[in-house]
Order: sequence, then structure tokens, then C-alpha cells
Amino acid sequence: MDGNGRWAQQRGLPRIAGHRAGVEAVRGLVKACAARGIEVLTLFAFSSENWRRPKTEVRLLMELFISALRQEVRKLHENNVRLRIIGERGQFPASLAAAIAEAEALTRNNSGLTLVIAASYGGRWDITRAVRRLAEKAASGALSPADISERMVADELCLHDLPEPDLFIRSGGEQRVSNYLLWQLAYTELYFTDCLWPDFDERQLELALASYARRQRRFGRTGEQVGAMLRPQRAGG
Ligand code: FPP
Repeated sequence: MDGNGRWAQQRGLPRIAGHRAGVEAVRGLVKACAARGIEVLTLFAFSSENWRRPKTEVRLLMELFISALRQEVRKLHENNVRLRIIGERGQFPASLAAAIAEAEALTRNNSGLTLVIAASYGGRWDITRAVRRLAEKAASGALSPADISERMVADELCLHDLPEPDLFIRSGGEQRVSNYLLWQLAYTELYFTDCLWPDFDERQLELALASYARRQRRFGRTGEQVGAMLRPQRAGG
């Protein structure tokens, strides 16, 4: 969700006003995704590297996360949304950690859209943590290093129980993944837009989905193979 700061600067406002407008955009997007039957929406709210920002911006962002969580959680619950937060929670202020735990507990059994918020998250952190867990199992003798498979690494990642993302959207004009879901993005379709995050509305989502619909996902196969897989099988064939 990039571009909040520039959105605010363009209006002569402090950066935090851009983040507040960013929360409004999140609200609209969650609604639009739920209405379209999208099963999982994962938002990158704060990266492992964002702790390097000026102390005041970090503090204001933490306050914004807490107030957004407290304000929105009831509504999310009423709309059957399951909320999950991934990232290094140990770094959060205690009040934010408590608000996260409450929101997750309240919405745990909901069956609609799964809304994942990545906060204090980094793809490298996620993979390192997974590797450390496997190394611990190997050191204890529960696992032989030769048996470690891609599946085992994937099973230790934060989002091990959710499908890999079909579509990655980055707003704000930069064309990089910035340490997001590094493992899971291996075959994800990437979509970059100059639109600043607070302006990312339902129309922008439609543009991204239309771009996705034009892609051919081959997962290493040839275009012909994929075409044959998509054609209906003949009876007895
Ligand atoms: C990046 O834009 C945005 C962030 C680091 C914060 C994003 C957070 C929100 C939109 C709030 C979401 C809240 C919840 C609870 C999901 P930037 O500041 O890097 O913008 P710039 O590149 O224009 O400076």
C-alpha cells in the first residue's frame, strides 16, 4: 500500500493524513473484495524495514493501527471476515499486541473473506524463521536434513495454511516487491500501478483484475500444454 506520504504531500498535509486516507482505501477495498468472492486479501501495512522511519511517524502509525483495529473489528466480524495479522509481534506496543489478539480471537471462526495484515513483516524474516524451526527439528534428531523438502519449508511459513497469492498489486509507482511474501510470490502475477494508495478504489481494483484476467499462468509449462489442460476432455479420451 504505497503512496500515502506523497498523497498527503501533494495536498500540503502531514504524512499521517495520507496514512489515515489509506485506512479509508482499505475499508473500500475489503468491501469490494468480499463482494467479489475473493477468498484472501493480504495487505502489507508495515514492513520489517519501516521501523527505520522517523520515530514520530512510527508512533503515529502504531496509534493508527490500534484505532483502526478497534473501530473496524466489529464491522469485520458482522461481515463474516476472518482477520489475521502476520509479522514480528514482539516489536509492537503492548496495547497493539492486545488489540490484535482480541480481533483475531473474535473473528477466528468466520468463514467469509480472510483479511491478512502484514505488520512488522518481511519475507526474509518469515523464511529465516521457517528455516530456524526446521534446523531445530534437525538438531533434535526429529528430522534428517536430507529429507527437508520445499513443502516442509512452506509449511513453516506464516501463511502455510492459505493458498499462494494469485495476484500481487503494488500502488505508488515503484516496481519492486520490497521484501513482501518472497517465497509465496514465486508464481504470483505482478501488477504495478502509479495510483497512490489512498486513491486505490474499486475502479482501480477492476483494472488490476482485468489485467490478471489477460494473463496466462503456465507454472513452467508451455502455452500449448496449458491450453490443452483448459480444453474440455473428450469422452473416453
Ligand atoms: C506506505 O506509503 C504505507 C505505509 C508504510 C503504511 C500503510 C498503512 C496503512 C495504509 C494503514 C493500514 C491500516 C490497517 C489497520 C490495515 P508511504 O508512506 O511509503 O508513501 P510514500 O512512498 O508516498 O512516502
